[in-house]
Amino acid sequence: MKVPFVRPDVPDFRAVAADLEAALGSGALTKGPHLARLEAEAAAAVGAAHVVAVSSGTTGLMLVLAEIARESRAAGRTEVIVPSFIFLAGPAAIAWAGLVPVFVEVDPDTFTLDPAAVAAAVSDRTAAIMGCHTFGCPCDTSALEAIASQAGVPLVIDAAHGLGSEQHGRQVGAAGLAQVFSLSPTKLVVAGEGGLVATSSAALAVAVRIGREYGNDGSYGCSQAGINARMPEFSAILARASLARLPEVAARRRAAAAAYAEGLAGLPGISLQRIPAGATSSWKDFVIAVDPARPAGDREALRARLAAHGIDTRAYYSPACHQMEAFRRYLLPGQRLPVTDRLAATLLALPMGGHVTPAVAREIAAVIAGPT
Ligand SMILES: Cc1ncc(COP(=O)(O)O)c(C=O)c1O
Repeated sequence: MKVPFVRPDVPDFRAVAADLEAALGSGALTKGPHLARLEAEAAAAVGAAHVVAVSSGTTGLMLVLAEIARESRAAGRTEVIVPSFIFLAGPAAIAWAGLVPVFVEVDPDTFTLDPAAVAAAVSDRTAAIMGCHTFGCPCDTSALEAIASQAGVPLVIDAAHGLGSEQHGRQVGAAGLAQVFSLSPTKLVVAGEGGLVATSSAALAVAVRIGREYGNDGSYGCSQAGINARMPEFSAILARASLARLPEVAARRRAAAAAYAEGLAGLPGISLQRIPAGATSSWKDFVIAVDPARPAGDREALRARLAAHGIDTRAYYSPACHQMEAFRRYLLPGQRLPVTDRLAATLLALPMGGHVTPAVAREIAAVIAGPT
């Protein structure tokens, strides 16, 4: 492909070489000094009281949800309200924690969790609400927090795409009980594999620290079953150097997104994700909606044409979670999710990242606008 869908946005080797060498020499390959520094730097960056680094965004979600499951089981609360239009790691983590995903709709324009749909789904079985900063667009945490607090349940955010996203002029991460970031290679901050659990709760931070360490609280006692979800020291070193570059990496994506938006403006049958006023997307993904009735062809036709020009794309998120074999069973009898079905059938993610300069974005927009 001439333009790959993604190319990991990583720091130069020279930025990490000395620390990697020192870590190798010291033998501190896990639970080393860089892990602790990463947690402190990330807490400052996202404005959270506590950050616990873990092996992935998925294990971070699993550990947070496992704690919620423990807290809410006695009250018979077992359900987590979650959009179906989300990466499958969210519903998977809910199921791993022994909870039940209750799928609801997203807003048709922002693609993020629809607060009205959440309010309608809350019941005395609700254990938590899970939103997502989908493709980097901050979800409406104020409205979701209000619903969660009225229901007396925690709000958890899948913030996998959230480093580089801002709300009210601040990096996202502080709202809700916990926000869980991913540092996998497609994100703006990369650890190789890794995740960050940001939380306002000292108790949850302790539970995640114990949970990431098999459930060992340090005494070799085990009060709850955990997993090994530690972030290796090499990953912490890479993540620290990567986090330091976040403003620059995010600015490049904003420039690419602006060039895409300009090139695609007014094209019949093509619409863009709406980023709410006062919010900034990280542009983890730049996603367009392709009207199936577009004379120039539907999403699959456009995808094929872009591929013929060497431009790699992804149909995110298709299928949606409620359409997947593992999660279909969680649909309520007769439940339909038409907004989600439509988004799953029409959205197309274009190449994004450091390799997509504004000139490349304009070139891709010109192919989309061009003759079929
Ligand atoms: C929205 C979303 N949630 C969760 C995850 C899982 O993160 P990780 O790959 O770090 O486990 C991803 C991964 O890409 C994601 O896109």
